[in-house]
Amino acid sequence: MVNSKSGGSAPALNRKLGEKMNFKTKYIPSSLDQVIFTDEAVKRRIYGYASGKLEGHIILYGPNGTGKTTIANLLVKQIGGGNPHIESINVDDLLAKSDLNWYLRQAASFASLTTSGKHFLILNEFDNSKKNLNKFWTALDECGSGVMVVITTNNPLNIHISIRSRFDLVEIKGVTPAAALNRIQDCLNKEGLKLPDAQVLYYLKIYEDSNDLRKYIQVADEILYLWKTNQNLPPWQRPTTSLRIV
Ligand SMILES: Nc1ncnc2c1ncn2[C@@H]1O[C@H](COP(=O)(O)OP(=O)(O)OP(=O)(O)O)[C@@H](O)[C@H]1O
Ligand SMILES: [Mg+2]
Repeated sequence: MVNSKSGGSAPALNRKLGEKMNFKTKYIPSSLDQVIFTDEAVKRRIYGYASGKLEGHIILYGPNGTGKTTIANLLVKQIGGGNPHIESINVDDLLAKSDLNWYLRQAASFASLTTSGKHFLILNEFDNSKKNLNKFWTALDECGSGVMVVITTNNPLNIHISIRSRFDLVEIKGVTPAAALNRIQDCLNKEGLKLPDAQVLYYLKIYEDSNDLRKYIQVADEILYLWKTNQNLPPWQRPTTSLRIV
């Protein structure tokens, strides 16, 4: 039975579980409106690109687990009319191509004949690769708007200055437990589990310092596991409200 009322010591939610969980794969956001944006200005910029009103290459940067790769995929999906031509190639292999310029222009002209409109490159972990970069930005200049590149990185300063110059740098900041709460609650509710906001927030706050969505998803997985296997949820404490008598 679910214990949603108890108070007490800090829960031990961070232990590893052997059981297979499904939250991670089941609740990957399927559209941009399911993404948690902690910054309204960033959200407006991303939606500007998604609607095609803004154009260009983007670097999404920020700490681990803030949703950069998720945003990159959903953004490209939306710009590419739901069926984007995405180059899924390792950065080193891309840069090793002898005629990158020709290769990308071909890809762009092919994509222009389809509903995708553009050819998309999503490059994760880009900062690890530094060879032949000049031919990359030269090729991008030649392709104009036929190719759109989205780079995700933890450290934009490791990306060559000439690449940074050509890209819009968008910071995706860490997600606080409070910002993640609604989304996590939506997903728990879809599984049929309704818990007080204060209880779920209490559990998420174990990972407050990380600001990492992956950690919150692990928490949600464990809550679901305990609930589905009829085990008590860890104890939690309601926030104390101090009533002031005036
Ligand atoms: N709004 C959301 N709701 C639920 N899960 C989300 C949401 N956004 C992202 N996720 C999940 O959070 C996890 C981390 O997201 P993602 O991989 O996009 O982060 P990242 O910023 O690219 O991390 P890294 O820097 O480590 O590559 C993924 O499992 C993703 O499906
Ligand atoms: Mg990523």
